[in-house]
Amino acid sequence: MRVIVEKDKDGVGRRAAQFVAALVRKRPNCVLGLATGSTPVGMYGELIRMHREEGLDFSRIVTFNLDEYVGLSSSHPQSYRYFMQQNLFDHINVDARDTHVPDGRALDFEAYCEQYERLIKEEGGIDLQVLGIGSDGHIAFNEPGSSLGSRTRLKTLTHETVRDNARFFGGEEEVPRLAITMGVGTILESRQCLLLASGASKAKAIRDTIEGPITAQVTASALQLHRDVIAVLDEEAARLLERRDYYLQVERAQSALQSGELGAPTEGS
Ligand code: PGA
Repeated sequence: MRVIVEKDKDGVGRRAAQFVAALVRKRPNCVLGLATGSTPVGMYGELIRMHREEGLDFSRIVTFNLDEYVGLSSSHPQSYRYFMQQNLFDHINVDARDTHVPDGRALDFEAYCEQYERLIKEEGGIDLQVLGIGSDGHIAFNEPGSSLGSRTRLKTLTHETVRDNARFFGGEEEVPRLAITMGVGTILESRQCLLLASGASKAKAIRDTIEGPITAQVTASALQLHRDVIAVLDEEAARLLERRDYYLQVERAQSALQSGELGAPTEGS
C-alpha cells in the first residue's frame, strides 16, 4: 500500500483530486467509484474547481457510489444521492444517466443488489474507487464482521456508525439502521483504490488498516490484499503509524524516480 501523508484535511482533498483528475484526463471514459461522508468533500470541491477553471471534462465518465441508507428517497437531504448532487454532480458536466447511487427505496433488495453488481461489470468494472473509513475501520458500510468476500447487499449499521453519523441527522434516533452497500469483495475488484482519512478519530482505524492483521473486524484491512491502493492521510490520521518514516522514504524515492534524478535503471537492476 502506498501511504501519503499531507499536512491537513485540505491537503488530503487536493492530493486526492489530483489522482482522480489524472485518471479522467488519461481515460476520459473511466469508471469512478465514489464515496460520501465528510472526508471526500474537499476532494469534490477541488474537482469542481478544476472543471470550472481548467476545463476538466467529466462528460464521458461513469460513476458508482458505494452505499445508500435504506428508506431514504433521493430528495432526502441526508440521502447519499442528494449528497452527491450537492457536492459534485450538479457542478460538473457528468451525464446524469451515468451516475449510479444505490436506491435506498428499491422494492426487492436482493434483486436490486445483484443488478447493481451486474451494472458495474457491464460498464467494465471500476477503475478507481474512492474510499473513506469509519472510526470502526469500515469501508463503505461493511461493518466489523462483514465477510471479506461480500458483495453488494443490505447491512445493519453498528451503534458506532449510527453514533458517528447522528451529527448529520440531528440525533441518533433519526439515523436509518440499514444500508445498501457494495461488499468488500466488490471493492477489492476495483483496479485501484484511493483511501482517504483525516482527523484524530481515524488514527486507530488507519493504523489497524495499514499495519494490523487482515481481519473482518477491520474491513478496511482487506485492502492489504489489493495490488494498487493509495492511502492519502493527514498528520492526525497518520499519527499512530509506526512505519511512518519508511512511507516518507518511499515517497521520496518515487519522486526521485519520476524526476529522473536516479538516472535510467541499469540492466538487471
Ligand atoms: P466520514 O465517514 O468521512 O464522514 O468520516 C467515513 C465513513 O464512515 O466511511
